Amino acid sequence: MLEVSSCTKVSHFSLKMFASLLVVTLGLCYCRKDSNQTFLGIPQLIGPSKAVLGKIVVFKCVMPSHPKNESVLLQLIKKDNAKQLGEYTSLSGEAATFSLVTRLSYEGNLECWARAQNNSHIRPTVSRTHYLRVVEGVKGAHIVVRSGPVEFFQGQSLELLCEITAGKNVSYKWLQNGQLISPSPSLHLSDNRLFISRTTSENTGNYTCIASNYYNHTVLSTSKSPDVEITVKEGVKEAHIVVLSGPVEFFQGQSLELLCEITAGNNVSYKWLQNGQLISPSPSLHLSDNRLFISRITSENTGDYTCTATDYYNQTVLSTSTSPDVEIKVKDVVSAPAISFTVLKEDSYNYSAVVTCESANGTRPVTFSLYNRTELVASVTSDNRKAIFKLPLVLDQYSGELQCNADNGAQAAHSQWLPLEVVSVGGPVTMHYDSDIGEHFAVIGLKLYCKVAKGSHPRYQWFLNKTLLRDRGSFYYVVDQPPEQSILLLSVGRSSAGTYRCQVSDSFDNTTAISSRKRYLDKEVLNRLPVLVVAVVFGCFTTLILLVSVCCCVGVVYNGGLKMERMTVAYEDELELCEYGEDAGVVRSARGGEFDQTSEASADEWPQIAEQKKTLEDETFEAL
Ligand SMILES: *[C@@H]1O[C@H](CO)[C@@H](O)[C@H](O)[C@H]1NC(C)=O
Ligand SMILES: *[C@@H]1O[C@H](CO)[C@@H](O)[C@H](O)[C@H]1NC(C)=O
Ligand SMILES: *[C@@H]1O[C@H](CO)[C@@H](O)[C@H](O)[C@H]1NC(C)=O
Ligand SMILES: *[C@@H]1O[C@H](CO)[C@@H](O)[C@H](O)[C@H]1NC(C)=O
Repeated sequence: MLEVSSCTKVSHFSLKMFASLLVVTLGLCYCRKDSNQTFLGIPQLIGPSKAVLGKIVVFKCVMPSHPKNESVLLQLIKKDNAKQLGEYTSLSGEAATFSLVTRLSYEGNLECWARAQNNSHIRPTVSRTHYLRVVEGVKGAHIVVRSGPVEFFQGQSLELLCEITAGKNVSYKWLQNGQLISPSPSLHLSDNRLFISRTTSENTGNYTCIASNYYNHTVLSTSKSPDVEITVKEGVKEAHIVVLSGPVEFFQGQSLELLCEITAGNNVSYKWLQNGQLISPSPSLHLSDNRLFISRITSENTGDYTCTATDYYNQTVLSTSTSPDVEIKVKDVVSAPAISFTVLKEDSYNYSAVVTCESANGTRPVTFSLYNRTELVASVTSDNRKAIFKLPLVLDQYSGELQCNADNGAQAAHSQWLPLEVVSVGGPVTMHYDSDIGEHFAVIGLKLYCKVAKGSHPRYQWFLNKTLLRDRGSFYYVVDQPPEQSILLLSVGRSSAGTYRCQVSDSFDNTTAISSRKRYLDKEVLNRLPVLVVAVVFGCFTTLILLVSVCCCVGVVYNGGLKMERMTVAYEDELELCEYGEDAGVVRSARGGEFDQTSEASADEWPQIAEQKKTLEDETFEAL
């Protein structure tokens, strides 16, 4: 029931509505018919949907029809605040053109209003709204390095922001050294941010960002940032030594040049080590950058060299690389060898010369070559700077001259020439002495000399009462000066009393011993000597006077023409007779002492005589 009644109500209301609509429509039709000529059409607003801030934007308002004799005012209106942006009076139906410098406030819904200027009966009309987007041109793009300094080490992160001072609807592009950067697993690009989580040296370069306003896929404006130089420092890698001067084995005096090279690294400084010890520069050792230079090397420069390359940044060590060892060997030039030989008795007829060549200095091994004159005798390489050669030898015969050459690769060194001649010992063997006089003219020390007439390799032996005196004892001391002589130093006392003799043999052959005469020496004998000397000299002198007197008498009586020469000869003969007549040992000793004195005296006299002679000559010269 209720539903039926509501239905009837609705249909009643609809009827009423229809009737009223019909009335309105008819009314309108009437109106149009009334003012047919003054009807304003709906204007159409034509213009861009976006405009760049500050740039000119052009809108047109076009009327579809124009009433006769009516000027129509066309206005460009911002709908939100009904603000007029421009107006134009169209007299004969021409379209209105509005050229505006775009302002931010223009963004929004725009409309074109049309109104008949002098006829209030004509109703104004409005165009459809037209939305204008005001686009701000991008300006002042620049890069901000968010991650910190522009120089840093690989492995650290890099974060760059592209900031702008003005602009809307901006999108960003990044360039590295002019090349567009694409995102990668380690390089993220989002909005105005570039982020690299772990940098490598490849990220070193000049970075630029380009900020652009895009609208409907077309670029409106662009701003390019200034470059930012990013340096990613690489850790030092694989240091190794290059020997520029060539081989690793040198001779002293040559120069050595080493370079420390690395495969990667910036701001690297270098250190050099020799056998683990830091090398400091010196006048002969120069260090510069990665170079080590020694102008003249010595054996001290031998060793294991390493270099250490270190990356420094802001005085902190970033990374270090140490090279493998390089062994540098410096060879010493071999010194001139000394040459000598000893004689070896092979059997009763055959002898050998054992020649020794020895260099004091020089890096081993050394090759020694033995030459006899120009002829190479033998050659041997030695690990101890010494070589021994054995040559057959004939005694008492000159067999040439020997020389040793030593060579260890640098330059050869030569020994002196050594005559190869062995003279066997031959007599006589003589012994004489000097005495040291103490208080009260007592003899307290003796120097006994032993000499042999010939022999190049003599061995001297001293005997006291048949006992061999070796090197030194409580009262004596043997000083050998081969081949010339041997000296026995004695302190005269109770234990030194006895019979002395010296014996000489070839050092290589014991069977050839020759002995000197024996001589008994003790304190009493030595101190009695001057008395004996006086006696002997006096005796001889007396004999001489007598003989001369006799001779003179005989000469005067029988032969006045006897010559002085004969007398001198006789005198000498007599002297020798005297010597042989006495105890040989004592006389020889006395003579030895005397001889020394006379020879000293004559030696002293000679310069005086010479001087006198000279002054005489000078005088005669002056006289002339
Ligand atoms: C419309 O009115 C203005 C002043 O309001 C006048 O100057 C103009 O001549 C008039 N134009 C017409 C066609 O009547
Ligand atoms: C975008 O541009 C294309 C042609 O370049 C045009 O057809 C389209 O209407 C434009 N769209 C807008 C929203 O401006
Ligand atoms: C260098 O290091 C010091 C501290 O060690 C620090 O204060 C300074 O900022 C650093 N300089 C640079 C350029 O990194
Ligand atoms: C050597 O012999 C003599 C006697 O001939 C003797 O008086 C003396 O003490 C001896 N000397 C030594 C050191 O034996």
